[in-house]
Amino acid sequence: MHWEEPGRLPALGKDEVHVWRASLDIAPESIRRALTVLSANERRRADRFRFSVHGDRFIAARAVLRGLLGHYLELPPSAVPLSAGPTGRPVLPSGLRDGGVEFNLTHSGDRTVIAVARGRAVGVDLERMRRGVAHERLADRFFTPSEADALRDVPPAVRPIAFFACWTRKEAFLKATGTGLQHGLPHALRGFAVTVSPFEPPEIRQFSGGARRWSLIDLDVGAGYAGALAIEGNARMRLFEWVG
Ligand SMILES: CC(C)(COP(=O)(O)OP(=O)(O)OC[C@H]1O[C@@H](n2cnc3c(N)ncnc32)[C@H](O)[C@@H]1OP(=O)(O)O)[C@@H](O)C(=O)NCCC(=O)NCCS
Repeated sequence: MHWEEPGRLPALGKDEVHVWRASLDIAPESIRRALTVLSANERRRADRFRFSVHGDRFIAARAVLRGLLGHYLELPPSAVPLSAGPTGRPVLPSGLRDGGVEFNLTHSGDRTVIAVARGRAVGVDLERMRRGVAHERLADRFFTPSEADALRDVPPAVRPIAFFACWTRKEAFLKATGTGLQHGLPHALRGFAVTVSPFEPPEIRQFSGGARRWSLIDLDVGAGYAGALAIEGNARMRLFEWVG
């Protein structure tokens, strides 16, 4: 997968999804600059992180998000009217969303990935593949029985990768649809299944809302990370590197 460094910010076509990758490991003076585009609510939230590194990463990710949305909406980054939806999802007002810009953001470790599309729901998830994760126990808790069985069928050497592939595929879909989140995460996660093996094409299965309406794509975000994108319908994916 090639992440393009565009000379100028690209226009977003109706049948495209732009996926941006950015580093959140930025210098203190850049954090101070990033803070100036955040809303008062976002600044308060940044202050509440127990560890300043997490607050700084939140600030950096929100500044990239505002920079990108500002470009697509033709607004200054500080004027992008972000608010929180009922399940905590950052959203734009419906007037701007209608046939307009949809987005989702994920962060893990020192990276963020932001997906932006027009008039179609999108969800993205990124996970740093930490060592020492109790894959089977978590699979029994969060995956469907068929997914947990499929994980056990994968050769042990590949199991950690399969676990994170399944996890990010599920999260990306959940973040795109929000389906069932109001009844709690475990309920939502069992409302559909995905393919588990990293060697199988990512696919939604057993979804009562019509799995065929959705595309699921694995993202190669870099060594040590798993990532996935879920998007309504089919869209041409373009990958970009945010360099600030
Ligand atoms: C909040 C949640 C949507 C994603 O959380 P996550 O995977 O821990 O974190 P991510 O970095 O991928 O996503 C967080 C970002 O998604 C966005 N987001 C928040 N709530 C969201 C929602 N309901 N729907 C979509 N996106 C949401 C926000 O931009 C948030 O970042 P911010 O708070 O810095 O702005 C939710 O699914 C959750 O709590 N997951 C817990 C993880 C888990 O147990 N997963 C089991 C997987 S099998």
